Amino acid sequence: MTINHKISSDLNISNHQKPNGFQDHCAFRFVKMLRFFADTFFAKRYGHRAVVLETVAAVPGMVGGLLQHLKSLRRMTDDKGWIKTLLDEAENERMHLMAFIEIAKPSKLERLLILIVQGIFFNLFFLLYLISPKTAHRVVGYFEEEAVISYTSYLAEIDAGNHANVSAPEMAIKYWNLPKDATLREMIIAIRSDEMNHRDVNHGFANEFLRS
Ligand SMILES: [Fe+2]
Ligand SMILES: [Fe+2]
Repeated sequence: MTINHKISSDLNISNHQKPNGFQDHCAFRFVKMLRFFADTFFAKRYGHRAVVLETVAAVPGMVGGLLQHLKSLRRMTDDKGWIKTLLDEAENERMHLMAFIEIAKPSKLERLLILIVQGIFFNLFFLLYLISPKTAHRVVGYFEEEAVISYTSYLAEIDAGNHANVSAPEMAIKYWNLPKDATLREMIIAIRSDEMNHRDVNHGFANEFLRS
């Protein structure tokens, strides 16, 4: 079954996939542990948090797309639209990074963190996807649930006046087709709806393994 990108109006902010079975519980606990570290490190520095975490978020789609591509070649079977969906997800996450880099400039420590985390995360996720693609998609589904929560908190901080609601970057206005005078708030709403889409698509992919 091909899982198409849904339009944002169909998406629900608080969708949560209940862990079902050992692998799902491991995925859920793993993501919650990473959330704890992210909360400790970034606290309410949402711009910096977004820059660093979007460098990580853009990895799984590329890994999943590559491995699904290789699987389709080996088995000589149709990919049911998975490869393009996953590569599009990677590109979309990279655009999130391009947007936030105009909002917050990472410190030297954060740049070092990005380097180290990419080295570790790419290899770990690649191995996980080889061993259990279902768990890998579940992990991404839970990552995306957390991303939706974080961007909702970011919006609340802007609404409370704790973060300046600056103009949206030019590239963001073009990419998300926002009004010319769009602000950071509108950009975050657009990005959050992308994350909701990734969440539902990845949980959907993980659920496909239950049926096959
Ligand atoms: Fe993202
Ligand atoms: Fe995402």
